[in-house]
Amino acid sequence: MNTRDQQMALEQAAQRRIKDSHALDGDAGRLANFYRGWASSYELDVGRDGYCGPMIVAELAGAVQTAYLARQRTAIAILDAGCGTGLVGVELERLGFRLIDGIDLSEEMAERARQTGVYRRVQGDVDLNGPLSDYSSARYDITVCCGVFTLGHVRPEGLRELARVTRPNGFIVASTRKSYAEATSFEDEVRHLQDAGVLVPAQRLNDGRYVAEEDAHYWIFQVPENASTPTEERRL
Ligand SMILES: C[S@@+](CC[C@H](N)C(=O)[O-])C[C@H]1O[C@@H](n2cnc3c(N)ncnc32)[C@H](O)[C@@H]1O
Repeated sequence: MNTRDQQMALEQAAQRRIKDSHALDGDAGRLANFYRGWASSYELDVGRDGYCGPMIVAELAGAVQTAYLARQRTAIAILDAGCGTGLVGVELERLGFRLIDGIDLSEEMAERARQTGVYRRVQGDVDLNGPLSDYSSARYDITVCCGVFTLGHVRPEGLRELARVTRPNGFIVASTRKSYAEATSFEDEVRHLQDAGVLVPAQRLNDGRYVAEEDAHYWIFQVPENASTPTEERRL
C-alpha cells in the first residue's frame, strides 16, 4: 500500500468510527464503552475528518462574552458539557477563558481533558441524558456543548438541564449536526423550553462547517432573567 492509499484507509477508518458512534441510541453503557475504546485515537480521527466544531463553538462563546457580558473572560465561569478530550476547552483557553469546568460520560475521555491542563475541574461518569445532580442551578455564565447533540448521543431533552445550570441572563452555545436536527425533535424541544420560559433562542448559524461530510447548526440560547436576580448584563 502506498502512502496515499494508507492515508485514504486511515480516513475511511476514522469516518467508520464516527459513524459507529452515531448508532449507540443514547445508551449510557454502550456510549461509555465505545468512547473508552476511542479515547486514545479520537483526536487523530476527528482531525482527519476536518472537525472544526470546537473552534466555532469556542469563538461563539467569545463573541457572546464580548457582546453581552460585563465581566472579563478570566472571570467567566464556563461549563463544557460533553467535553470529550478537551478540544473545546483548549480553544476557550486560547481565547482567554480560565474558569472552565468539563463533564463527560466517559471517564477515559474526561481524563484526557484533565491532561490538557486548561480545565479547572473535569468530572467523568456524568450522563447528560439525566439530571446533573452534582451541579447546582445557575452556576455557569456560559455552557458550551459541541458534538454532543449528535445522533446516538444526547437527546434534545438534555437541553433543559444545561439551561438549569446556566445562570439567568447567561448563555448556552451548542452545535447540532444537521442529520441530528433533522432526525430528532430538537427544534420542538427548543420551542417547548421557550414556551416554558426556560430559554430563548438568541442566535443561530445555519449550515456552518463542522466535519468534512456534514455541516451543523450552531445555536446560542439565553436563559431568561429571573426577576429576583438583578444582574449587570444587558439583555438581548
Ligand atoms: C463527539 S465527542 C465530542 C467531544 C468534544 N465536545 C469535542 O467537540 O471534541 C462526544 C462526547 O460526548 C460524550 N457523551 C456521549 N453521550 C453522552 C452522555 N449521554 N452524557 C455525557 N457525555 C456524553 C462522549 O463521551 C464524548 O466525549
